Amino acid sequence: MAFSARDIRADFPILDRRVHNQPLVYLDSAATSQKPRQVIEAINNYYVHHNANVHRGVHVLSDESTQAWQDSRQIIAGFFSADPSQLILTRNATESLNGVAYGWADHNLEPEDVIAVTHMEHHANFVVWQQAAKRNNARLHVLDIDEQGRLDLEKAAAQLAHWGQRLKLVALTHVSNTTGVVNPVEEVIAVCRRLEKKAGQPIRVVVDGAQSAPHLPVDFQSLDVDFFVFSGHKMLGPMGVGGLLVKHDLLTSGQLRPWLFGGGMISAVFTDRTDFHPQPDERFTAGTPDVASAAGLAAACRYLQALGMDQVEAWDRQLVSYALERLGELPEIELIGPTQARPGAVQLDRVGSVAFLYRGVHAHDVAQVLDSEGVEVRSGHHCTMPLHLKFGWQATTRASFQVYSTKQDIDRLLDGLSKVKQIFVGPRPAVAP
Ligand code: ALA
Repeated sequence: MAFSARDIRADFPILDRRVHNQPLVYLDSAATSQKPRQVIEAINNYYVHHNANVHRGVHVLSDESTQAWQDSRQIIAGFFSADPSQLILTRNATESLNGVAYGWADHNLEPEDVIAVTHMEHHANFVVWQQAAKRNNARLHVLDIDEQGRLDLEKAAAQLAHWGQRLKLVALTHVSNTTGVVNPVEEVIAVCRRLEKKAGQPIRVVVDGAQSAPHLPVDFQSLDVDFFVFSGHKMLGPMGVGGLLVKHDLLTSGQLRPWLFGGGMISAVFTDRTDFHPQPDERFTAGTPDVASAAGLAAACRYLQALGMDQVEAWDRQLVSYALERLGELPEIELIGPTQARPGAVQLDRVGSVAFLYRGVHAHDVAQVLDSEGVEVRSGHHCTMPLHLKFGWQATTRASFQVYSTKQDIDRLLDGLSKVKQIFVGPRPAVAP
């Protein structure tokens, strides 16, 4: 079936609303995506027909709820070509990253060990490691990026090799939420696999997929990554559910330990000790799980799968390229991130969003004027302060896309920017003074 954003829009009830008496143009999907009615109905259906706690009741509703939980886990894991036993459902990508820090790093790092991150990380994949390094007397190494905001692979490989046996963890984003850069994660993982052979011990790699899972096909098995995290709400699912995919050996060797304790994750409790559940999916799910949100996320995965992630990616690339082209025509705009493919590459290594500086106008003012025109974008540092500080950007404005975004949305963004010009820059004098 041909991909049609126009048809897709009919599934998203919120897109019919108006803001400031204008039809809504939602260009803030990297912050959170809108939800199709299939997702809203899945959540509703769970509460209307099946709500009960999982596992702990021997009655029909509890069985149905347990089934809904397990079916949802299967669909979500399948979306990433992972086995359900490798999936730990959390509240969001941030909680997943904290889980790796408290469940793995705190038990496996020694003083002077090194955690490497990149300069483009979201605070969730930066502050977590900065704090884990402090707790464990380890070091945080920040890998350089170039003027376009790209990781220089050769330089990064040399920087990682420098640490030898001290390097224990590399954490990087798959897609930057600010520059839209798609990191060469396969190559970085391959570098780490070569270095770990040399070092004679594993180097664990964490990929933050919060901004990639909504736009790119992700195959967890073939990625050969140790931990992959994602957020449901950025991929058409509800808020409050995300995930952590974990390589089998980390689950079976006990190297990843539970970081949340309580009911549901145990097999036996005594006054002086607790035996944790042998099944990883149980061991890492303490307390009552959010079955309704899992059902909603499963519906989102089914929705994206029905569209086809290749088509989803292709549409996103068209939108990014159209936005870069239109914004690139405006002298008052400075685009952030790469605008040309790397030499020899077939396509631009960028998806999901286009951020920019409006010369002489603060990003919050730009966003406010756009809002008055019905165009919703994000302004600020987008939780990437180290990146903003590196380039001396006080704040940037970001337009970000999803399957329901259209080129007309981008045209409306451009119309809104002409209003910004009217208000803050004023008309050009007819005759040069
Ligand atoms: N991480 C989200 C964003 O990039 C909130 O906007």
